[in-house]
Amino acid sequence: MNILAVESSCDETAVALVADGRKVLTDCIASQVELHRIYGGVVPEIASRKHIEAIYALADQALIKAGMTRRDIDAIAVTYAPGLIGAVLVGVNFAKAAALALNKPLIPVHHIRGHIAANYLAYPDLKPPFLCLVVSGGHTMIVDVRDYTDMEILGTTLDDAAGECFDKVGRVLGMPYPGGAALDRAAQLGDETRYVLPRSKPGSNPYDMSFSGLKTATLNLIHHAQQVGEVIDTNSLCAAFCGAVSDTLVPRIVAAMKQTGRRALAVAGGVAANSRIRKDILETAQGLGGQVYLPPLHLCGDNAAMIGAQAYFEYLSGNIADMQLNAYATKSILGERV
Ligand code: KG4
Ligand code: ZN
Repeated sequence: MNILAVESSCDETAVALVADGRKVLTDCIASQVELHRIYGGVVPEIASRKHIEAIYALADQALIKAGMTRRDIDAIAVTYAPGLIGAVLVGVNFAKAAALALNKPLIPVHHIRGHIAANYLAYPDLKPPFLCLVVSGGHTMIVDVRDYTDMEILGTTLDDAAGECFDKVGRVLGMPYPGGAALDRAAQLGDETRYVLPRSKPGSNPYDMSFSGLKTATLNLIHHAQQVGEVIDTNSLCAAFCGAVSDTLVPRIVAAMKQTGRRALAVAGGVAANSRIRKDILETAQGLGGQVYLPPLHLCGDNAAMIGAQAYFEYLSGNIADMQLNAYATKSILGERV
């Protein structure tokens, strides 16, 4: 089954063709990152306009690259939530029009379910059940993936997402938006013992997390140094910051693996590209006898192939939308039908 998948929830316009949820036929991305960089973050209005400009040509390009025509498409899939509402709407409207014109099923996909499904593309042998650590720009949670469309959230951040903190700290350190990748590179040259940053333990759920205290402590440290004219060792501060984020995530994953008895652990989302987090998770989970699935870097960030992968399993479970499909800025990843 060939699915044409569309993703436009943030600052990447993406169209992919995916066969049977596992094989990427083509994966096209038009990134807007350079445009938003001068503002230090995504400007929603600009994002929506750029999606409109790019999406039609990108869909044609995807078909040409795959050596296919519109007749080869069996279904249309789209990210319908969560994201910047104007941006998501562009993809949803495009997908509705395409499904109507081609008379093919329209499959709504939750963006975070898509991030999890990126692992199905990289690892053909990966099947639920497994645990998944989702770490993106807007979400940080530990999910028990009981089946392709049946999930339970074990724990979540109670405030900021990990990626959001990477971007804020990166911005204050003068790194280009989005700061995560640059901060990661700087951290590899630093000495993490030079700075001490907090690890918080919020609430009573052992899997819940908090990052706002870490973010504030890091920003305060930078501002204080600026005020007293002290030179910050940026690389070491970045190393300490990555260490603190990893120290927040890893013990909760360990606890979840022990508690659930799951041996397979996947990681998903843009922050899954972080070298320190990848290393710590791999070593720790393998130490527990677990099998770790880390997506390759090009599948960590936003893309449409992951939407096409999850769409196949949504389709099999009967999750098909009609022309009433709407876009949502927020929505739970749990199995709510649209
Ligand atoms: O999943 P994603 O592409 O978009 C959302 O759905 O939010 O995640 C983007 C986030 C940004 O915050 C970005 O700074 C972060 O992923 N990121 C990283 C790295 N590469 C991207 N964070 C830490 N280390 C990285 N290497
Ligand atoms: Zn994303």
